[in-house]
Amino acid sequence: MDLSIDLLGKKFSNPLGPAAGPLCEGIENMLFFNDNSCGYMVSKTISIEGAIVKKPCIAGTSNTIYNRELWSELHSDEWIETILPKVFTEKKKPLIISAGYKEEDFKYLIPKLDPFADFFEISTHYVKENLDGIVRSIRENTDKPIFMKLSPHVTDYLGFVKKVIGAGATGIVAINSLGPATAVDLKNLSLLLGDEVWISGPAIKPIALHRVYHIRKAFPDIPIIGVGGIAKAEDVLEFIFAGADLVQMLSSALIKGRYLYDKIVKDLPKALEKYGFSSIEEIRKVRKETIFKVEEEKENNFPEFNEKCTLCGLCVKICPAGALSEDGKIIVDKNKCIQCGLCESRCPYDAISGVLI
Ligand SMILES: Cc1cc2nc3c(=O)[nH]c(=O)nc-3n(C[C@H](O)[C@H](O)[C@H](O)COP(=O)(O)O)c2cc1C
Repeated sequence: MDLSIDLLGKKFSNPLGPAAGPLCEGIENMLFFNDNSCGYMVSKTISIEGAIVKKPCIAGTSNTIYNRELWSELHSDEWIETILPKVFTEKKKPLIISAGYKEEDFKYLIPKLDPFADFFEISTHYVKENLDGIVRSIRENTDKPIFMKLSPHVTDYLGFVKKVIGAGATGIVAINSLGPATAVDLKNLSLLLGDEVWISGPAIKPIALHRVYHIRKAFPDIPIIGVGGIAKAEDVLEFIFAGADLVQMLSSALIKGRYLYDKIVKDLPKALEKYGFSSIEEIRKVRKETIFKVEEEKENNFPEFNEKCTLCGLCVKICPAGALSEDGKIIVDKNKCIQCGLCESRCPYDAISGVLI
């Protein structure tokens, strides 16, 4: 099964890389990604001065990470003089260098980071103005592909893409963490990690997919890296199908452990096979014809039950219209059924069809 991706003259053995964050901070972490099965490496966001981060700064539940990290806590000198030269001599795969934030930072940083980077990824998380000036100043200092990272609090995200591509950026990374948000810690009668945190992990996946899909639809030819909530091989396929060329993951590896990168890459062939694909490139090709089809509203799409039904009763319990009942089999009251699709989507046994597309 071919997992490889060709993008901007680089070959990626598979589409999964880490997303900028604590797992990409410092030399040991960077070398971990050089040696594991990810298709590429990404650095933590490098700015001139190391960030001063309030601690504690990361908390997690089973599907969400809360954080108030900033950029790399290491000074840019350490990245430029020690970490990146070491990674570069041992480099086995493409390296994306994440950098931030202001125009004057880039004038200093980009020429120094350029020898080590295959692509640049530019965090815009704390940038409120001068987006095009920032892109132009980076472009003046490198010929390498520049990916601008979109934060989900940017409401005019298509305007963002138009502006940065117009100013000389190559592609988009979508999305950064969602927020600002607040989490209450009832146990300690306080706020978890302060009054303003950013959230990420599986909880934000639908928002990330939304941005990737709509950017792809409006900009069919730009490279897009999809990130936000990936936790398993199927998620990677969803992002590629929605429009991404490469994908990144962070929070699920914080929640479960970094072994998850290898597991997802290992699971990709099976997931591809399950959905009838023989390569990742094939999804990139077919999505052009399939994904932008306008969804047609169907009529008379009542649920039908197949032999996999175990009469577990979940559909009866959750039907918002009270249209399902059990009498040796599941009975549908067509006068009550609102043809919403919830039963089909929630059936644990794949026993219902006929409602969803
Ligand atoms: C603890 C933490 C630190 C992060 N640090 C950075 C960073 O330095 N630069 C950046 O662009 N994004 C940063 N992010 C955002 C992630 O790179 C990613 O865009 C976001 O978490 C969504 O992906 P995920 O759901 O797979 O984590 C950070 C996220 C977390 C949770």
